[in-house]
Amino acid sequence: MTVLEAIQRSTEFLAKKGVDSPRLQTELLLAHLLKQPRMRLYLEFERVLTPPEVDGIRELIKRRGQREPLQHIVGSTSFCGLEIAVNRDVLIPRPETELLAERGWTFLNQLSTLNPQPSTVLDFGTGSGCLAIALARKCPAAEVYAVDTSPEALALARENAAHHGVAERIRFLQGDGFAAVPEGARFDLIISNPPYIPSGDIASLQAEVRDHDPRRALDGGTDGLDYGRRLAAESAPFLKPQGRLMLEFGDGQAEGLRQIFQAQKWIVEAIEEDYTHQPRIMVARQLNSHG
Ligand SMILES: C[S@@+](CC[C@H](N)C(=O)[O-])C[C@H]1O[C@@H](n2cnc3c(N)ncnc32)[C@H](O)[C@@H]1O
Repeated sequence: MTVLEAIQRSTEFLAKKGVDSPRLQTELLLAHLLKQPRMRLYLEFERVLTPPEVDGIRELIKRRGQREPLQHIVGSTSFCGLEIAVNRDVLIPRPETELLAERGWTFLNQLSTLNPQPSTVLDFGTGSGCLAIALARKCPAAEVYAVDTSPEALALARENAAHHGVAERIRFLQGDGFAAVPEGARFDLIISNPPYIPSGDIASLQAEVRDHDPRRALDGGTDGLDYGRRLAAESAPFLKPQGRLMLEFGDGQAEGLRQIFQAQKWIVEAIEEDYTHQPRIMVARQLNSHG
């Protein structure tokens, strides 16, 4: 079987299984198997695959056909240009969360031009560590704390941090939200991509998400806003006077979240859209804060 034949047959198979972008998925898996950039495949369409290569691609395509996410099969994804290892213990980082990271490091870098003290960040629900690691890399003077309930997620987050040379700069804390934060810690930025899918919607998510992302990373309670309520109620004592809370949220949740925060005496400074023009990120500060 040639490279081109493998691509054509696998694409057809994945399309029948209802996988989105079957040709692209096939090419990415074949490139992964052959350890070469995807574009190289185009120069090798006529090359005959060896028997182990044929077995290899069959196995990978079979897994993808069973709706295992591509990122789990290849073992990683890209987040803010960083390779982040993923497995079943963590949410696969999403492109929209890159906007949250960027909003976070822009704020911290502005702050550092005004204030020589190292800034402090808390990543609430760190999962793979993607946000904490991106912030540590982009803000070399920041002290980063990252909390998660899951020891397995934290183990992977630590590995990711070590891979990117920032393990010493991030304090990974296991526990339930602020209960895990050391007494007296105060943050310039509390950043979170919390679970925000309404419980009743989880069953109808894409199989890749429903069956492979951990439920504790998805389930935001009846209306998806449980963590928004929690952050609105509990964050204030942990925020420095000029600090910000930045939060990702789900489709249709912007107004509900705004009301929750305003009722708890927050100023909602901005609601920002993602790449598909959906409101996705909230930036808030305390009513009596400055700057
Ligand atoms: C949606 S995932 C986000 C992971 C990562 N920050 C990202 O953006 O890809 C939410 C994470 O919050 C964690 N989590 C859920 N409840 C928590 C709690 N009460 N305290 C700390 N972490 C929690 C979950 O284990 C999960 O890793």
